[in-house]
Amino acid sequence: MKVAIIGQGYVGLTISAFAGEFFEVIGFDNNQKIVGQLNSGISHIEGVESSVLQKWIKAGRYKATASGSDIADVDVVVIAVPTPLSKERQPDLTYIDAACKTIGENIKNPVLVINESTSFPGTLRNYIKPAIEKYSASLIVHLYAISPERVDPGRGDYNQKNTPRLYAGLTTKASEKTREFYSRFCDQLVEVSSPEVAEAAKLFENTFRQVNIALVNEFAQITNALGISVYETLDAANTKPYGFMKFTPSAGVGGHCIPVDPTYLAAVAEEHGAPATFIRRANDVNLEMSKYVVDRVQADNGGSLQGKSVLVVGVAYKPNVADVRETAAELVIEHLRKRGAVVSWHDEVVDTWHGESSAPLSGADIAIVVTKHDSVDENGIVASAPYIFDTTGKIKGVKGL
Ligand SMILES: NC(=O)c1ccc[n+]([C@@H]2O[C@H](COP(=O)([O-])OP(=O)(O)OC[C@H]3O[C@@H](n4cnc5c(N)ncnc54)[C@H](O)[C@@H]3O)[C@@H](O)[C@H]2O)c1
Repeated sequence: MKVAIIGQGYVGLTISAFAGEFFEVIGFDNNQKIVGQLNSGISHIEGVESSVLQKWIKAGRYKATASGSDIADVDVVVIAVPTPLSKERQPDLTYIDAACKTIGENIKNPVLVINESTSFPGTLRNYIKPAIEKYSASLIVHLYAISPERVDPGRGDYNQKNTPRLYAGLTTKASEKTREFYSRFCDQLVEVSSPEVAEAAKLFENTFRQVNIALVNEFAQITNALGISVYETLDAANTKPYGFMKFTPSAGVGGHCIPVDPTYLAAVAEEHGAPATFIRRANDVNLEMSKYVVDRVQADNGGSLQGKSVLVVGVAYKPNVADVRETAAELVIEHLRKRGAVVSWHDEVVDTWHGESSAPLSGADIAIVVTKHDSVDENGIVASAPYIFDTTGKIKGVKGL
């Protein structure tokens, strides 16, 4: 079986690496640089070893391409392209549309099309299927299914094999073929009654996280006002063996999922006349955390940050990955610069960002820890400035949330 995976980023390349063991994989990506790198056996994604890629390339089971004609004779197409927010913070399906165009224009025989990109309920039925049909020269009857991706890049304990996978086809045959495809490399498949249920479940999973993170971020502000430790209080609450799940505070949420997916859910809810006030408020609380952190730092430093050198430690959105999409560090830096601080950042995993390079972990007036990678020495952070504010709860003996 030959499989085309559209998009070779965090999701697409991870799937390619697993699928390479069982299928011939064509990794289609419109970024020529990524394609060149992948074909020379170099992975750009944490959790996908270059050695695995090289093994599949050598065995003739993996090839990256930016040419649509290379996917003409595949049996299965998996869509794994970005679904970000537009400037107006609305769902942006332009990448999905471009992927549908590639499929519609190049695939000449009926195939199974599976969407793994996260989007709102109805995307497969009302958007992807009609778009592919629109771009096809003749009416080819493809099978369509959804299987939302749950990969957590950088995570060691859960992967494509042992993470249960939701799926649903638009038809019974599409569901059967989807099960057949994933059962080769995934241990547990969970069929739901419609693509809309699978799409909504994915959004709800990440909305659940966003709301709980917002709650704990608000709670951190309450405990600070009360003069008690948020971490000690959370640990105390967490001794209850049922009905409680511990989340920890932070400078905000980042990445391609938690800050984005709830807004997809809110947008579709409002379009259908249902309220999404709770989801919208949670998003705002998380976005406002960066200001709260900078307010605290300013108050501790004589009420002004004008001219002070501030080092932001860790700009990736979470530990041990180089991903800076929607990172809370961006807003923290923005607030600091607006208040006249001279800001640099240190992140040896990210290395370069917005045309700036990672600065040494030393010599600042103030250091704010936004993300703590395992490889960054705690003592080095403590020695980097006379005043440290830690938003991660990982650095002992310094100020923090
Ligand atoms: N990253 C995660 O942890 C994660 C987890 C679960 C679900 N998702 C979802 O999976 C989808 C993909 O996310 P990602 O993190 O892999 O994104 P990514 O940015 O890492 O990768 C997307 C890739 O698609 C390529 N691309 C963009 N438009 C294309 C097109 N028209 N044709 C071919 N290639 C194209 C880009 O060059 C890029 O390499 C999103 O919907 C996201 O919400 C991501």
